[in-house]
Amino acid sequence: MASVLSGRLALKAEVDKVAEVAQYLWQKGWAERNGGNITINITGFVDEEMAEMPAISAPRAIGKVLPHLKGAWFYCKGTGKRMRDLAREPMANGSIIRILPDCASYEIVADEPVAPTSELPSHLAVHDYLLAKGSPYRATLHTHPIELVALTHSKKWMEKDVATKMLWSMIPETKAFCPRGLGMVPYMLPSSVELAEATIRAIDDDYDVVMWEKHGVFAVDVDIMDAFDQVDVLNKAAQIFIAARSMGFEPEGMSEEQMAQLSAAFSLPK
Ligand code: 13P
Ligand code: ZN
Repeated sequence: MASVLSGRLALKAEVDKVAEVAQYLWQKGWAERNGGNITINITGFVDEEMAEMPAISAPRAIGKVLPHLKGAWFYCKGTGKRMRDLAREPMANGSIIRILPDCASYEIVADEPVAPTSELPSHLAVHDYLLAKGSPYRATLHTHPIELVALTHSKKWMEKDVATKMLWSMIPETKAFCPRGLGMVPYMLPSSVELAEATIRAIDDDYDVVMWEKHGVFAVDVDIMDAFDQVDVLNKAAQIFIAARSMGFEPEGMSEEQMAQLSAAFSLPK
């Protein structure tokens, strides 16, 4: 069977980026077993012929009504699928879905009837929020970065912007490439609608990356490579913090003055 990606070079390029990021997640040790999930809004890559393709699954409920997703299309990692397998075969370990006119359900269209990730409520609710805001962001990433997740096991680091300040101060690139910092979402049941709603509240507080306490991160950006980069720079900063402490001292961190100078020089938010 021909893949829906055949002859659709722009769409294939987006899915290939997902596969590339999936490989990085595995290599970093952030994607044990089926850990983590990715969805990308591919509506802009759907041509007329693709729009007419029949569904290969029955309609399935999302669990929420998402009015801005009417007729939208997504590539989604499959539930239970491994990032390391998706890296080799994205269309056997993920699928393309379209949101139905009721805005509350979806059907799988291609290539195989792979059920989307269990975190679909969070991913789709965030995509709905981004479209409502007129955001150019089209990718959402959930992954389990070891050092960032470890931070959330302490109440101190779960306090608003405490981890952000520490991480930004470890190396100048962190604020430059993750200028909105790291939001914090208290522990909630994975895949729940409550977690989806709390994630949106945190993103709306002006974060591109939010932590799910004792679980993982959820990141948004224009494409999946940029979403990955934001998580990567934050986790690198956490590793520097740990490296300094394991060398037996408390890292100094950049000073307030150095941070202010950096923000001014690169026009970053305060
Ligand atoms: P899925 O395999 O359903 O995507 O779940 C992985 C995960 O990380 C859940 O939080
Ligand atoms: Zn997870």
